[in-house]
Amino acid sequence: MTKYVTTPIYYVNDVPHIGHAYTTILCDMFKRYQVLKGNECVLLTGTDEHGQKIENSAKLKQKSTQEYADEISFKFQNLWNNFGIAYDYFVRTTDKYHDIGVKYAFEEMYRNGDIYKGHYEGNYCISCETFFTKRQLVDEFFCPDCGKETTPLKEESYFFRLSKYENKLLEWYKENPNIILPLHKKNEIIKFIEGGLSDLSITRSGFKWGISLPPFVNDDKHIIYVWLDALLSYITPLGFGNDNLNKMYFFNDATHFVGKDILRFHAIYWPAFLMSLNLPLPKKIYAHGWWTRDGAKMSKSVGNVINPEEIANTYGLENMRYFLIREVPFGQDGDFSRKALIERSNSELSDTLGNLLSRLLGMGEKYFNLTIESNNFDYLKNEIDEVAIIIESLEYYMENMMPNRYLEELWKIFNIANLSITKYAPWDMMKEQKVDDVATLLVFVANILAKGSLLLYPILPNSSKEIMKSLGVDFSHYNKIILDNELINTFKLTKIPPLFPKIEKPAIETNINKINLKDEINIKQFDKIDIRVGKILEAKRIEKSNNLLVLNIDFGESIGTRQIVSGIANFYKPENINGVLACAIINLKPSKIMGVLSQGMILTTEDSKGNLSLLSVYSNTELGSKIG
Ligand code: MSP
Repeated sequence: MTKYVTTPIYYVNDVPHIGHAYTTILCDMFKRYQVLKGNECVLLTGTDEHGQKIENSAKLKQKSTQEYADEISFKFQNLWNNFGIAYDYFVRTTDKYHDIGVKYAFEEMYRNGDIYKGHYEGNYCISCETFFTKRQLVDEFFCPDCGKETTPLKEESYFFRLSKYENKLLEWYKENPNIILPLHKKNEIIKFIEGGLSDLSITRSGFKWGISLPPFVNDDKHIIYVWLDALLSYITPLGFGNDNLNKMYFFNDATHFVGKDILRFHAIYWPAFLMSLNLPLPKKIYAHGWWTRDGAKMSKSVGNVINPEEIANTYGLENMRYFLIREVPFGQDGDFSRKALIERSNSELSDTLGNLLSRLLGMGEKYFNLTIESNNFDYLKNEIDEVAIIIESLEYYMENMMPNRYLEELWKIFNIANLSITKYAPWDMMKEQKVDDVATLLVFVANILAKGSLLLYPILPNSSKEIMKSLGVDFSHYNKIILDNELINTFKLTKIPPLFPKIEKPAIETNINKINLKDEINIKQFDKIDIRVGKILEAKRIEKSNNLLVLNIDFGESIGTRQIVSGIANFYKPENINGVLACAIINLKPSKIMGVLSQGMILTTEDSKGNLSLLSVYSNTELGSKIG
C-alpha cells in the first residue's frame, strides 16, 4: 500500500524559519526511509493562506492579501525546492480544487447532521487562529498557547458537533494505542477528550479572507474557520469532493507530522471531521517539539528567528539536516545553537564519517590501486557480528520515530570501522607482507560504509549517494547487504573530494556579523523604545528550562517592579546578579515564556560564539533612568 505523509501546511504570515524546515525535513526523512525499504510514499506539503492573521499581515505590508499570500507561498516552495525536499504535492488553500473540496466537506457534514447554527461567545487568539473560553485564558486575557493577548468575540456562528464524537475518539485511541507518538502526548490528548469536548465553532464573520459557505446554505455572512479549511488540505489535492484528481486511496495509510502546538487540532478535530465524513482515519500522528533560541521562543518581534536558508548556506544543507535530527530526541524541545551544530559536524560528520571514507580511499589507492577484494573475513568475525546486531536494531528506532537514536546507533558502526583500522594498523601489516589481511580489512570497512550509506539515505540523501558512488554500490544492494546481512567481496573505488570539510571559525563569525545587521530605522522609531535602568532584586531559574532566569527588577517609584524572563541562565548564577543595575526595554508587549509572564526584555550583548553578557550601569544611577 502507498504510504502518505504530510507536513503541516504553513501560514503565510511570515517567511519560513528553522521550525518549518525541521518538520519538513522530518517528513522528507520519513518518505526516503520508506523508499529505501521499497515502499511507495507520497509527501504533501503546502501553505495555509486564509484567516484573519494573514489578512492583517498583508494590510501591514500594504499589499493585497492574495499578492502577499502568493509571495510567501512561493518562498516556501522555493525553499523546499532548494533543499531538495521530495514532495509530491504542494497544496495552497487558495487553490480552486481546495475551495471545491472544502465546500463539499461542509455540505457533507451539514447533511450528516453535524453542523448547526448558533452563537459563539468567548475569546479568539488571532495568532493561533483558535477559540478559547474565559476559563482557558491566562490572566483573563492571554492565549494559553502563545501568550499573546486575545480578542473578545461574540458572533453568530456555525458549529460542528464535536461533542458527539467524544466516545468514538476515546474508543479509537483505545483500539489503536500507538497512533500518537511520543506516547506521553497521547495521554495528554486522552485527558483533554475525557475532560469533555464542546462543539466547535467552524465559521467566522466580520472579515472576508476565507472560503465562503456552500451555496445551498445561502448565507454569505460567514466564512469557513481557517482550521477546518486547513485540515482538509490533506485530502483536497487527492480529489476529495473533486473526482478528477482521484488519488483518495493514498489516504488509507496516512502519517501526519506536526509540532506539539498543533497536536490537538490533528488528534481531536481532524479525526472527528473524518469520522463525520466517513473517511479513513490517520494511521500515525507524530508530534515533535519546538526549537528555541537561548531557551526562549523564536519570534520575529524579538528578532531571534533562525533562517534555515542562511544556516544551510553557511554550514551545509546536510550538516543542518544531520544536526536537526541528531541533536534532539523526537518530541522534545531543543535549543538551536550554532556552536553545537559546528561541534557535531566537525566531530561526527568530518572526523568519524568523512575521515573514514578518506582513509579507505587513501589506503585503497595506495595499496591496491582502488580495487579491493576478499572473501575470507575470519579474523574480523567479532566486528562483523557487532555491526550486524547494530544494523538489525535500527528499524525499531525509525519505526518508533526515534531518529536521533537511529543515528546514534548507526554511528557506532562507523566507529567500529575506524577503531578496527587503528587496532589492526594496515600500514604495519603491509610492512609484514600481510597483503591479504589488509585487503580484507579494507573490504570490511568498505562494507560498513556501503551499509551505512544506504541507511543514511533518509537523513543525508546527497552525501549518502556520494559515498555509494565512491564505493560503486547503489540501492539495488539493499536486500543483499542490509536485509540479508551479507558482505560484498569486491569494490572498485572512485576517489571523491572530502565529504564534510571541517567548519572553520572565521566563516562562522563573518556570517554571524552579516546576519545580525538589522534594517535601518529612523529616530522616531528608535524613540518608541523605552529603555530604563533597573535593579535586579531577585533572580530564579525556571523549572524545566536550562537557559531561562526569571528576574524581579525594581525600576524605581514611578514604574515599580517588573518581572522579566531572560535567556541568561547559562552565563550567570542567579545569586551572582542580585543587586546588578541592568538595562531593560520596558514597553515591550508582555508575553509568556515557558508559561511565565515576562514584562520586558533585559539587554545583553551576544558575541560570535553565542555568549551573552548583561548590559549594566556602573555609576549609582537613579532607578528608572532613561537610556537613549
Ligand atoms: N497553519 C497551521 C498548520 C495547519 S496544518 C493543517 C500552522 N502553521 S505554522 O506555520 O504556524 O506552523 C507550522 C508548523 O511549524 C507547526 O507544526 C509548528 O509546530 C512548527 N513550528 C513553528 N515554530 C516552531 C519552532 N520554533 N520549532 C519547531 N517547530 C515549530 O500551525
